[in-house]
Amino acid sequence: MTIQWFPGHMAKARREVTEKLKLVDIIFELVDARLPQSSRNPMIDEIIQHKPRLVILNKADMADQYRTNEWLAYFADKGIKAVAVNAHQGTGLKSIMSGAQEVLKDKIDKMKARGIKPRAIRAMIVGIPNVGKSTLINRLAGKNIAKTGNMPGVTKAQQWIKVGKELELLDTPGILWPKFEDQEVGYKLAVTGAIKDTILNLHDIAIYGLHFLEEAYPSRLKERYDLEEIPEEIVEAFDRIGAKRGCLAGRGLVDYDKTAELIIRDIRTEKFGRLTFERPNESDDV
Ligand code: G4P
Repeated sequence: MTIQWFPGHMAKARREVTEKLKLVDIIFELVDARLPQSSRNPMIDEIIQHKPRLVILNKADMADQYRTNEWLAYFADKGIKAVAVNAHQGTGLKSIMSGAQEVLKDKIDKMKARGIKPRAIRAMIVGIPNVGKSTLINRLAGKNIAKTGNMPGVTKAQQWIKVGKELELLDTPGILWPKFEDQEVGYKLAVTGAIKDTILNLHDIAIYGLHFLEEAYPSRLKERYDLEEIPEEIVEAFDRIGAKRGCLAGRGLVDYDKTAELIIRDIRTEKFGRLTFERPNESDDV
């Protein structure tokens, strides 16, 4: 489902998250491990204020493991606990529990010192669309929780999902908007499928992907498309890739739309292997 983020929508989404903050001990901020910075909500710090948080790098199965480790170290450096998981397969879920306990350790210790038996940790998942919030909730719940409209403002009675004895999770995630203002962020979100229907041009997204591969993973680009570098005339790259992969329009001509779709699909379906689109030191505003 495509979400059109209008100012009213954003205000409502923010209000919903803010209201639910009171109910939880910790926020699970879900991001895409392939773009841990671009897949964050730009106002997340302001919205959750001082509420304890665990950053969860989801889709770690699709991300470059070396870079994921860089990101984990980066967050640790900033004093933010982060873990990497694959909600699809259910890998790394235990690290969410241990991560939450680590973040809340002082609070739990204080309660214990006062003779209060700690209750289950209450948490809420928050993130932009398509980072895997519903998938993770279902994984943690061990069953399929109905997806009642992946839209801010679509409300239903709030329920707690018990995850073992030590965690209770709100069954509806907080859905926040992605960064819009930066076009590069838009391309990263589009090329990974984080924004599916996009106002960005399909060819431009594919070209962005090719240039990214040329810069970050040149050997993989060479291996799959037999391109040492992207020709200055981008149409030459499309001609070569389209001809090589059979994206033809008839009479031997390359179909550029099909070629753009193929490039994007190849990137999204790991034909170039596991990719990470940004490194921690590219910008320091996390
Ligand atoms: P959302 O609630 O945050 O909007 O995201 P959602 O769970 O709907 O997940 C978005 C897409 O990401 C889904 O794929 C889902 O299967 C996939 N996904 C979620 N977590 C992971 C993960 O850890 N690894 C991988 N590889 N994929 C993950 P989809 O194609 O949109 O839907 P479907 O094919 O699963 O039906």
